[in-house]
Amino acid sequence: MTRYFDKTVLVTGGTSGIGFATARRLIGEGATVVVTGRDAARLDAAVTDLGGRAHGFLADVADLTALDALMQDIRDRYHRLDMVFANAGVGIFAPIREITEDDFDRSVAVNFKGVFFTVQKALPLIPDGGAVVVNASWTLHRGVDVLGLYSATKAAVHNLARTLAADLAPRGIRVNSVSPGYIDTPMYPEADLPARVAAASRSRVPAGRFGHPGEVADAVAFLGSPDASYINSQDLIVDGGLVGTMSPTA
Ligand SMILES: NC(=O)c1ccc[n+]([C@@H]2O[C@H](COP(=O)([O-])OP(=O)(O)OC[C@H]3O[C@@H](n4cnc5c(N)ncnc54)[C@H](OP(=O)(O)O)[C@@H]3O)[C@@H](O)[C@H]2O)c1
Repeated sequence: MTRYFDKTVLVTGGTSGIGFATARRLIGEGATVVVTGRDAARLDAAVTDLGGRAHGFLADVADLTALDALMQDIRDRYHRLDMVFANAGVGIFAPIREITEDDFDRSVAVNFKGVFFTVQKALPLIPDGGAVVVNASWTLHRGVDVLGLYSATKAAVHNLARTLAADLAPRGIRVNSVSPGYIDTPMYPEADLPARVAAASRSRVPAGRFGHPGEVADAVAFLGSPDASYINSQDLIVDGGLVGTMSPTA
């Protein structure tokens, strides 16, 4: 497929997991992709892996000065951004009684403020008819005891996507979120979880397994493409059925 031929895309947090898989998928469909991350070695490795149509930029999404420099670099090199995947996020998973002010500030700074200002600062570069996809999470659809802080930041960005969809409709820019389920990435690595936790996670999913980052990348590539031309302000849940079902044994 060549849905992204001649398109320029920004993927924040593109050095591993879902962001990396999405960058690879979009490059495979013809895009030039700017990937970001905070670690120079990981960023270099990702860009080398992704090949000639990948460009890396070191930027913490919580740092507005870094975001300004990122957008200026994209403006100088490519002049436009046909799609933005605001993906960078951190997972601090603990019951609310154990959350510290640092945990709170870090989660909100990356997962909410980072997404908010990534999109705001990218907007002047997005042409009419462009697309934005925000990475949310299945957790925004559920109340889960150890996920309160994380889920709240994801609910915030899902709602932000809806507001942006209304705001940007006059320019024909569609804004959707994607909500991955249990995806095997460094954030939730199936092999490194306690066996009991991994088994419990799998047992809640009708598909009976964790998802692969590429399965979320497929959904993001769809949402950003003309195939989704009449899909706007939605949350696409990519979770093997986790949110929509309840197993009597789980
Ligand atoms: N895996 C899951 O089960 C799951 C489920 C639902 C939602 N999600 C969401 O999916 C997104 C991607 O997560 P993932 O599972 O693919 O995890 P991951 O493999 O840990 O990837 C996170 C990416 O974000 C980057 N990053 C983290 N903080 C950043 C910051 N402040 N500025 C810029 N980049 C930053 C990381 O690179 P550096 O560390 O080098 O900066 C890395 O490239 C997150 O928003 C996460 O909440 C994941």
